[in-house]
Amino acid sequence: MLQMNNVSKVYQTEMVQTHALRDFNLHVNEGEFIAVTGPSGSGKTTFLNIAGMLEPFNEGEYLLDGVDVGRLNDNQRADLRNQKIGFIFQGFNLIPDLNLYENIEVPLRYRGIKANERKRRIEQCLEQVGLASRAKHIPQQLSGGQQQRVAIARALAGEPRFLLADEPTGNLDSLMARQVMELLEQINRDGATIVMVTHDSELARRAPRNIQVVDGQLADFTLYQGAQTIKTASGV
Ligand SMILES: Nc1ncnc2c1ncn2[C@@H]1O[C@H](COP(=O)(O)OP(=O)(O)OP(=O)(O)O)[C@@H](O)[C@H]1O
Ligand SMILES: [Mg+2]
Repeated sequence: MLQMNNVSKVYQTEMVQTHALRDFNLHVNEGEFIAVTGPSGSGKTTFLNIAGMLEPFNEGEYLLDGVDVGRLNDNQRADLRNQKIGFIFQGFNLIPDLNLYENIEVPLRYRGIKANERKRRIEQCLEQVGLASRAKHIPQQLSGGQQQRVAIARALAGEPRFLLADEPTGNLDSLMARQVMELLEQINRDGATIVMVTHDSELARRAPRNIQVVDGQLADFTLYQGAQTIKTASGV
């Protein structure tokens, strides 16, 4: 379970102070699939980065499976991230000189996973995203949708419990976007908890739970199954 209680994040630059998140409250249960929408600059990426422990926060409490993230040192945070979190970034973040196999392998090597286990996972994940025959291709030889699927395979190879995705369909046409969404739905059925930021309201509606970030806070509603709108206190 991922739980944020009154989390605040302030970016301080020379000229301005930006409250990217203010008193942000959210509980994500095991096995959920949540779509996050909201205007540009509202704090969605900031929220994902904090959830993934890529960024510190200023105030409040963040518990990941009961562990108080604010109390961990850098190494403990990195360990927890490696164990539990997978990221799909907006720009794919693939390494251009490496082929697909190697791209997926990099984080596994980094985590000290043995060669035969790396091979097993990479082949399984490439199969899962439908790119088994492309293992030797470099990213540039792939379409945008295929590159996005490599990014998903790379996240999956870590066998994360929580998958955090920042506009995973952002650069794709609607057909490819739906395919990526179907893949994420499959991964969710297989047990991963997913939090997906998207600007695509049609895809968001397919997720069992929708939340909206406005001005650094959760908007005052939560949608379940698209069927009923439940008014709740902010952020529950
Ligand atoms: N490193 C930074 N330094 C200063 N301000 C930042 C930094 N990162 C984000 N911000 C500011 O924090 C606010 C929230 O940004 P964030 O990236 O979380 O928005 P977003 O909801 O993801 O927007 P988009 O939909 O455009 O991706 C914005 O006002 C942004 O300018
Ligand atoms: Mg963003």
